[in-house]
Amino acid sequence: MVKKDTAEIIEFKKLGHKISALTAYDYPIAKLLDESGIDIILIGDSLGNVMLGYRNTLPVTMTEMIIHTQAVSRAVGNSLVVADMPFGSYQADPKQAVSNAISLVKAGAEAVKIEGAEYMDAIKRIIKAGIPVMGHLGFTPQSVNKLGYKIQGKLKTQRSKIKADAKKLEKAGCFAIVLEMIPPDLARSITRSVKIPTIGIGAGPDCDGQIMVTYDILGLYPNPPKFAKKYADLSRSIKKAIKKYIKDISPRSSAG
Ligand code: KIV
Repeated sequence: MVKKDTAEIIEFKKLGHKISALTAYDYPIAKLLDESGIDIILIGDSLGNVMLGYRNTLPVTMTEMIIHTQAVSRAVGNSLVVADMPFGSYQADPKQAVSNAISLVKAGAEAVKIEGAEYMDAIKRIIKAGIPVMGHLGFTPQSVNKLGYKIQGKLKTQRSKIKADAKKLEKAGCFAIVLEMIPPDLARSITRSVKIPTIGIGAGPDCDGQIMVTYDILGLYPNPPKFAKKYADLSRSIKKAIKKYIKDISPRSSAG
């Protein structure tokens, strides 16, 4: 299999080939995703809540993103590796944004993802430095304190802004855009209006691809969003195996 790159991901849209994407934060899960043929592996800053037990993504640091990006990229031979730019790594200064994006590339990322269309200068400079950028619109978790955890784009003004932002990101040179928690008809309309692929999460079936948090679909995270379909119940399997292990060691101490 040939290693996927951003040009191939863009080509998928032209060919009508749906793009599959999942998150990974560690070596073993990344290896499983890569071997299963996933197109894109995202080291999402969702690692904050999913892996590190934070309340949301806001505390995630560049140091944490770098460590997890290194672990994931060591495992990947086929999928495109994209790393999230964490909160605070691109908002304050475009120059600092470029240097943080470079650090993620040195850690093994082949592209970075940035939330919103507010920091266009940073996005343009990162692309100019030769680093592909994936946009992210709709519900953007780093703005949870401003937006609340809810569907975006229900109001007419919000709809027009999200649509206009998608066009801006395309014009700036982004290679794809994640559309998170927006009404399916808005996602469909954006998908038709841009030439770059849209990757949906809780945005209906009509995007060019779909992304999910792996731990949500495998039943490994206790609070998955409602839109996450469960493909396995690994928490149950793991508990069963651990109980069996405990029983093998100490038959009297096995819990219920
Ligand atoms: O951080 C993340 O996992 C994301 C997603 C789009 C799943 O941004």
